[in-house]
Amino acid sequence: MEGKLIWWSPSPSWLMLSTLCLLLCAAQLQTSSATVAAAGTVPIPAGNVVPSAGVKLTSGKDEAMIDNGIIQLTLTNPGGFVRALKYQGVENVLETHEPDDFGGYFDVSWDHPGGEGKTEQVVGTKFTVITETEDQVELSFSSSWAASPKDLVPLNVDKRFIVQKGVSGFYWYVIVERLKGWPDVNMDQHRMVFRPKITMFKYMAVSDEIQKMMPAYKDRETGEKLAYPEAVLLTTAIEPEFKDQVDDKYQYSMEIKDHKLKGWISDDPKIGFWVISPSEEYIAGGPNKPELTCHCGPICLAMFTSVHYSGLDMVTEYRNGEPWKKVFGPVMVYLNSIVPSNDHAALWQDAKAQMEKEVQNWPYSFVASADYLPAAKRGSVSGQLLVDDKVLSPTPKEACTAYVGLALPGTTEVAFQFDVKGYQFWTQTDPKGNFVIKNVIPGDYNLYGWVPGVVGTFKHPNLITIQPGNEVKLGPVTYKAPRNGPTLWEIGIPDRSAAEFFVPDPDPKFVNKFFVDKPNDKYRQYGLWLRYPELYPKSDLVFDIGVSNYSKDWFFAHVLRRTRNKYICKNTFLCQLPL
Ligand SMILES: *[C@@H]1O[C@H](CO)[C@@H](O)[C@H](O)[C@H]1NC(C)=O
Repeated sequence: MEGKLIWWSPSPSWLMLSTLCLLLCAAQLQTSSATVAAAGTVPIPAGNVVPSAGVKLTSGKDEAMIDNGIIQLTLTNPGGFVRALKYQGVENVLETHEPDDFGGYFDVSWDHPGGEGKTEQVVGTKFTVITETEDQVELSFSSSWAASPKDLVPLNVDKRFIVQKGVSGFYWYVIVERLKGWPDVNMDQHRMVFRPKITMFKYMAVSDEIQKMMPAYKDRETGEKLAYPEAVLLTTAIEPEFKDQVDDKYQYSMEIKDHKLKGWISDDPKIGFWVISPSEEYIAGGPNKPELTCHCGPICLAMFTSVHYSGLDMVTEYRNGEPWKKVFGPVMVYLNSIVPSNDHAALWQDAKAQMEKEVQNWPYSFVASADYLPAAKRGSVSGQLLVDDKVLSPTPKEACTAYVGLALPGTTEVAFQFDVKGYQFWTQTDPKGNFVIKNVIPGDYNLYGWVPGVVGTFKHPNLITIQPGNEVKLGPVTYKAPRNGPTLWEIGIPDRSAAEFFVPDPDPKFVNKFFVDKPNDKYRQYGLWLRYPELYPKSDLVFDIGVSNYSKDWFFAHVLRRTRNKYICKNTFLCQLPL
């Protein structure tokens, strides 16, 4: 029979392989023995009351404080670290372990090629009041690499904070820049870190389904470290329900497309602390790259670039004096407390509504930096995506709910997955295959995409130049699926997820009870890669076409095999055709 064999393996999707996490940086977490007075119960007014008070700035020798009558944000001056966030009578909903550990900071993990890696909490050296009105205060805490005497990451960094009248929270964005001719550098990670107060925040919420009470960080310290330091078997626990459970921050990762809202809830007093990422444009890797969200600490992250789930392909490398400038954010930190239904669900729903409001307002009109472009300075691209796959239809068919996105020009159709330098703009097509990608930062891009159920990824052959205020009308765009004939056999569903394959039960010794009886989240359990050599002790997986069933016989991840002498080697899945 003629025809190219088409098969699908889970490898192109961003599998949640914990084995790959070994490359990653551990949270720079140290708990302090300093005790923090537990916040007492404070009277909570109905709703997020919006006082008429304007925004007030007070700046002193080592602090700058912005107060809008709802929240009070204290920043170190000129360092630009979040030292305190006052809300609902609680002096600080964040944890601080001074002098070197703060409630909120921006850090970069980096090295000179060949040098030692470090994670640097970027310290501002210059404080500037950008805007100071009744309605809004914007502050800048910047640092200039050329003027720095120390061995710091070769970036100029400008950390900008905005507090607005009537808003229960603050906005934070960071502009990073390297100039032409600056030294070579590798950057593994750019992120914002928030540390809600340990004594208050015990309930974590990262999605509609993944919300739970969390173990204490102290439980981790006495626990048994597993294959990598982030995974710990809790041998003792302050709350007995966590004893003999695995805690591992990678179990709470979400794909970037689902990354917009995450946070923590305090029960006494009832307060929600939320980090809202209104856009994916500044997060590297495309819609399906998983990233960390929140984890035991308590910690809440806003990730911008990282090697998580990928490794060295996602290092932001600069060579030969190449310049760069990028704006990360703004990210919103939102605080809530609502009565009468002051429960976890009510706080989550309210935070979700706020997130949706922020998404609607994107791009923001109130950001002062000229490096952040408001809607009027952005452009758009529209078109209709058709898919030409003769097996689905003899003529090209409208591609429904396909993902289409603009990312920096690349040499392959999956280049967007590895891009860490540019911005990305994604949307999904309507039932007719129509799409409009709005609010694109001007520049040259490729259009990438894929169609659920259709094998392959596409890249439009033409460079797309976005100009301010302009819409590029592409008209019909046809994606020709890579196929020479009819499908003879197929394993799984080409949809950039490995959910349909066989996910083993975790080792009963290494369970996170929360994910038991949640079939869609089973893959998050610790140590599933160790089940592979147990299931296939002598030889690798053999899949008999026409006999085997991929739900039962195709291991969901291509994992490494650990042999008796602990040598880790590759495995090969064998597909056997009936002959
Ligand atoms: C494959 O296995 C799954 C899970 O046991 C089952 O639901 C499905 O019906 C099987 N498919 C076939 C074609 O036997």
